Amino acid sequence: MPKLNGQVALITGASRGIGRCIALRLAALKATVVLAARNKDRLEAAAKEAEEAGGRAIVVPVELENEQSIKALAQTVHDRLARLDVLVNNAGITYSALLQETATEDYDRLMRVNARAPFILCRETLDLLKKAPRGRIVNIASVVGAKGYPRQSAYTASKHALRGMSIALAEELRDTNVRVHVICPGGVDTDMVGDVRPDIDKGDLIAPDEIAELVEYLVTHKGNAVVDELRPRRRTAAPWF
Ligand SMILES: NC(=O)c1ccc[n+]([C@@H]2O[C@H](COP(=O)([O-])OP(=O)(O)OC[C@H]3O[C@@H](n4cnc5c(N)ncnc54)[C@H](OP(=O)(O)O)[C@@H]3O)[C@@H](O)[C@H]2O)c1
Repeated sequence: MPKLNGQVALITGASRGIGRCIALRLAALKATVVLAARNKDRLEAAAKEAEEAGGRAIVVPVELENEQSIKALAQTVHDRLARLDVLVNNAGITYSALLQETATEDYDRLMRVNARAPFILCRETLDLLKKAPRGRIVNIASVVGAKGYPRQSAYTASKHALRGMSIALAEELRDTNVRVHVICPGGVDTDMVGDVRPDIDKGDLIAPDEIAELVEYLVTHKGNAVVDELRPRRRTAAPWF
C-alpha cells in the first residue's frame, strides 16, 4: 500500500523550487496534494507532474501576504476535501541588504510571507489536522532560523519567528495527534539562492529533492521517535550550525 494513500497534503510555494519537489514526492506516495502559490501556470505544470507521479493534485492560487487569500485557501481545503493530514509551510522570500538600508516595508513583507502566513494557515487548518489520524505540520525555516548572517537581518528575523512559533505550537499540541516539525536548510539549488548568493558554487548546494526526501521521512515515519528539527547543511558550510 503506498504510504500516503487517501491522505491530503497542502504545500505552499509548490510552483517551483523546494515546494514543487515536496509536492511531487508526496504525490508519488499517492497523496492528494493541494498546490498553493501565486503563479497559476507554474502550479498547473506542477499539478500535471504530480498526477503523472501517481497522486491527485488540486491547484489553489494564493497571495500569502493577504489574510483573506490565506483564509480562502484553507476554506477550499475544507470545502473540497474536508480532510488534511499534512501541512507544509514552505513558501518564502528573501532579501539581502544591510539593516541600515532595509526599508520597513521590506521587513514587513518578509514577516508577512515567512512568519505571519504560516501562523494564519496553521490556525485555519488545525481543526482538520486534529481530525486526521496523524496530523503533521512541516515548517521550512532556514539555517538563518538558528543563526544570523550580515545583510540578512529581515530574513533572519522572519525565520527565527517561524521557528519560534513552531516550537510553541509543538508544545501546545503535545497531547494531540498533531506533530510540528521544522527543517532548517543551508543553501539549496533554487531561484532563491541564485538571487542572493551567486557566489556559492552550485555544485556545493543541496538539491531541492534532498529537502523533499526529509519531508517524506518526517511524514511517513511511524516509530516512537519524534524528530522536532532537521538541519541539513551544504557540504562546504561549517558543521554544527
Ligand atoms: N534556497 C535556499 O537556499 C533555502 C535555504 C533555506 C531555506 N529556504 C526556504 O525554503 C523555502 C522554499 O525556498 P525555495 O528556495 O524553493 O524558493 P523559491 O524557488 O524562490 O520558491 C519560493 C516559492 O514561494 C512562493 N511564494 C513566494 N512569495 C509568495 C507569496 N507572496 N504568496 C504565495 N506564494 C509565494 C513562490 O511561488 P510564486 O512565485 O508562484 O508565488 C515559490 O513557489 C523558503 O521558505 C525559503 O526561505 C531556502
